[in-house]
Amino acid sequence: MSATVIITGAAGGMGIPSARRFAAQGRPLLLCDVNADKLEGFAEELRSEGARVTTLAGDISAASFPQDLVAVLGDAPLHALVHTAGLSPTMADPLRILEVNYFATERLVAALLPRFEKGGCAVLISSMSGYLLSDPAMVDAVRDLLAGKGSEGVERFAVNPGMGYTLSKRAVIGLVGREAAAFGARGLRIVSIAPGFIDTPMSQAEAESSEQMRQMITMTPAGRLGLGDEIASVAEFLCSPGASYISGCDIKVDGGILGRLGI
Ligand SMILES: NC(=O)c1ccc[n+]([C@@H]2O[C@H](COP(=O)([O-])OP(=O)(O)OC[C@H]3O[C@@H](n4cnc5c(N)ncnc54)[C@H](O)[C@@H]3O)[C@@H](O)[C@H]2O)c1
Repeated sequence: MSATVIITGAAGGMGIPSARRFAAQGRPLLLCDVNADKLEGFAEELRSEGARVTTLAGDISAASFPQDLVAVLGDAPLHALVHTAGLSPTMADPLRILEVNYFATERLVAALLPRFEKGGCAVLISSMSGYLLSDPAMVDAVRDLLAGKGSEGVERFAVNPGMGYTLSKRAVIGLVGREAAAFGARGLRIVSIAPGFIDTPMSQAEAESSEQMRQMITMTPAGRLGLGDEIASVAEFLCSPGASYISGCDIKVDGGILGRLGI
């Protein structure tokens, strides 16, 4: 297997198991994370196990990041992107969350689209929270954003980090729907995964600060938190020939919580 897999957030709770799965396939990896020390430590570990690993440490929201990534990729064919880098509500203010989770994602997808080999796939990570947007005016604001009618509406509704997060993830779900045609025209696919409550450093920090989240975790039909590898396994499947007719949609991997909430 010679075409590269790019993983963002590669030092994080979903990025690490994703990298391990594609390394086990024998794929070359290009791993990115803003945490340079963790990224290099993990890359060294994988290399010592025989994996071919290149790294790019940096902030995905930096204007130059997509070009830097394409430059590091060089002439290598690209098989897949698994884009897990993101911020949760306790980590930043609402506009920064929108910037990292949505706008940087949109730029990354646009830059990589021409670089995939035929049959390639982009997997983005949305969130179950993207489904919790009930106000029609907010839904319209996301629709306007995706239609290129400006970000003013979304920014106006992002009154706190939680709303910024929810709006950003709803927009990611819309992005894969919007981009599926451009990907399909090149024989490619683009999909998102909506995790529920997954046991990673991010969700541990969120649960500590939110009683509502702790309550919802107890309502999850699976009766436990998900594991980072339970997201990675779905990402691996989505990038495989077995998922060749899945594109433009969001896959819920949430232990059943959204279904239980009637969503
Ligand atoms: N953990 C959950 O329960 C959960 C639920 C729903 C959605 N998600 C989403 O899943 C994705 C992965 O989350 P996770 O739980 O693995 O989180 P995590 O915090 O464990 O990992 C995220 C990684 O992204 C990196 N990162 C953050 N901002 C970055 C930036 N600007 N540039 C480059 N790298 C950056 C971090 O350094 C970290 O290594 C996120 O998009 C998150 O919103 C997580």
